Amino acid sequence: MNIGIATPDGVFSLDLGDYESVKLLNERITIAIHGYEPGRESSHPMPPKRNGVANPLPAEQLKAWDDWVAGGMIKSLTFDEHIAPIFKKYREPMLKIGIAKEDGVFSLDLGDYDSVKMLNERITIAIHGYEPGRESSHPMPPERPDGTPNPLPAGQIKTWDDWVAAGMKKS
Ligand code: HEM
Repeated sequence: MNIGIATPDGVFSLDLGDYESVKLLNERITIAIHGYEPGRESSHPMPPKRNGVANPLPAEQLKAWDDWVAGGMIKSLTFDEHIAPIFKKYREPMLKIGIAKEDGVFSLDLGDYDSVKMLNERITIAIHGYEPGRESSHPMPPERPDGTPNPLPAGQIKTWDDWVAAGMKKS
């Protein structure tokens, strides 16, 4: 897509890998990718015709796009931007702990993508471990010194769950 696209504020090249660029031009993208459909014909349907033949995206990809736009074009969650900051203050104490797995004893580096991804199921159990019905023997972060529960804020737990559900992207 190394093409100049004219808008009222100038000519842009649309970087389809760049969130801000795609968001800015989302209405034009919607028109273009639906442009092969009866009643929604566009003068520049995208992707362009191949050997003169219509070349639309598969229907499920069109639907995924429409859903993403309708849902407010949320930038997807990444480890670097959304997960690492939640764990930052817990990294040092957790590095000191050996965690046993079938294939050896690991220290869980909460600032390291591969380490967190590898232990994601245990982390899920641990951070939900204060919830009724999901009690864990080692809820995390651990109880306070006075023995009271010390869960992460609900919003952070939800961010974690959403990140895992969306496939644990790094960046
Ligand atoms: C959100 C932050 C944290 C996460 C996600 C986390 C995650 C985990 C996980 C996955 C385990 C292994 C549990 C298992 O499957 O057996 C664990 C164990 C452990 N963690 Fe953390 N941890 C966090 C914060 C902390 C902090 C702040 C401390 C110390 C102040 C700590 C101390 C321990 C200890 C001592 C263990 C060994 C199990 C036990 O005896 O309780 N963790 N943690």
